[in-house]
Amino acid sequence: MAISIPFRQLFIDGEWREPVRKNRIPVINPATEEIVGDIPAATAEDIDIAVKAARRALKRDGGKEWASASGAHRAKYLRAIAAKVTEKKDKFAKLEAIDCGKPLDEAAWDMDDVAGCFEYNADLAEALDAKQNAPVNLPMDTFKCHIIREPIGVVGLITPWNYPLLMATWKVASALAAGCAAVLKPSELASVTCLELGEVCREVGLPPGILNIVTGLGPEAGAPLAAHPDVDKIAFTGSSATGSKIMTAAAQNVKPVTLELGGKSPIVVFDDVDIDKAVEWALFGCFWTNGQICSATSRLILHESIAKEFLDKLVKWAKNIKISDPLEEGCRLGPVVSAGQYEKVLKFVETAKREGATVLFGGKRPQHLTKGFYMEPAIITDVTTSMQIWRDEVFGPVLCVKTFSTEQEAIELANDTHYGLGSAVISNDLERCDRVAKAFEAGIVWVNCSQPCFSQAPWGGKKRSGFGRELGEWGLDNYLSVKQVTHYISNEPWGWYTPPSKL
Ligand code: NAI
Ligand code: MG
Repeated sequence: MAISIPFRQLFIDGEWREPVRKNRIPVINPATEEIVGDIPAATAEDIDIAVKAARRALKRDGGKEWASASGAHRAKYLRAIAAKVTEKKDKFAKLEAIDCGKPLDEAAWDMDDVAGCFEYNADLAEALDAKQNAPVNLPMDTFKCHIIREPIGVVGLITPWNYPLLMATWKVASALAAGCAAVLKPSELASVTCLELGEVCREVGLPPGILNIVTGLGPEAGAPLAAHPDVDKIAFTGSSATGSKIMTAAAQNVKPVTLELGGKSPIVVFDDVDIDKAVEWALFGCFWTNGQICSATSRLILHESIAKEFLDKLVKWAKNIKISDPLEEGCRLGPVVSAGQYEKVLKFVETAKREGATVLFGGKRPQHLTKGFYMEPAIITDVTTSMQIWRDEVFGPVLCVKTFSTEQEAIELANDTHYGLGSAVISNDLERCDRVAKAFEAGIVWVNCSQPCFSQAPWGGKKRSGFGRELGEWGLDNYLSVKQVTHYISNEPWGWYTPPSKL
């Protein structure tokens, strides 16, 4: 069924609002390379209007409407948003697939996750009420202390294009559950479903200004948000280079940031595995979402004794992956998101060849697709640890392979990266899996799988993959500030200074 991109403006203060400079950015379908719509392009002026709307929303009615209302009150809105997303799931999934190129089945799965994440954060918002005023035991019985968890304030949320609505939701749902007001700046490469979230907010009657959605280019709309003096916190997902710029901008106002940056995550496969099962996880771990996942296990570290058989099967399975328009039934690999990203990924493959690696399979345009940013999934062998393909994040369907002989060697190879987001180990020896899981320098470890992700478990990295955790109760903590209230409960005077003599 044909579906058109809805015409939208910026979503500010509960209303659709044309950008001050009236600019728009074309939406290009990566499967056809055709312009299929456009989105508004905000600049610093619009960001300022959105931040002011968010600040007003926090203060409205003395904060009783949102920030200092009960978590249970806010949970009702989060559940209403979840229900609306579920109702519109088919339409949203199609829009997502057209906008970012991910297979429709994956986009539909994302929409379930979006609804699930709002639901889960509604639970967290309710549970927050019971945690308020928690006592702190003090070593002096003349004092009594309790804790108030308060929303951190107005938050700026800057998100990427690989899971457009889902990555926005990881931030928005937690921020709203905590009682913050937010300004969301989605990626200019995929903002369509985020704008539709604005319509959902209108439909459920979210108080105006609690969520503002301001689309636009990174330097024009993202940078002024990161630098805005009246934004209390920035949460960002995207490239390390942009993350570093955001941290620098935020530092000028001593503004806290959480950063979820890229990765070059390892998947270690031992020699005691069911090869077909392990092959499928290796493929899924790297080629799912068209290979554009921060946590993609894009370095396959393979026990040398099974390497030949494993690689033979890996190529056979890879050849069998259906590459097509994301809306086509059974698509498992769509186009990468944009012309720029396509060139970048192809260049990675070229550089790997030039540096002496072997392209065992793929890495080029499939013959049956003459248009669109399509690429056969690439499997690259004869890799050394100094090559670019081993060191740098590709963010496309490119898997590189190295072999090992001992567990120690596998761990050293796995940790041979500046990044530390995901990691995976495949083995039937669960004690070994435990040892390896502890040794991985990463925020996420998958055992006998790669990539499955749940709203309940913390998500984030170490090293240059960033810091802070999203999802789970840790995600909510990102948007809360902890206040101690300490009472002096003795009737005695404090007695530190000598009282002036009574006259
Ligand atoms: P990016 O990191 O530049 O974009 C992410 C978000 O940051 C977008 O909303 C963008 O508009 C915004 N942004 C860009 N410059 C900004 C600035 N100066 N201040 C504030 N916000 C800014 O990523 P991009 O250019 O779309 O992709 C480049 C590479 O980044 C990819 O090839 C990939 O390697 C990596 N990437 C990693 C992601 C991850 O989840 N770890 C997600 C997207 C991209
Ligand atoms: Mg797009």
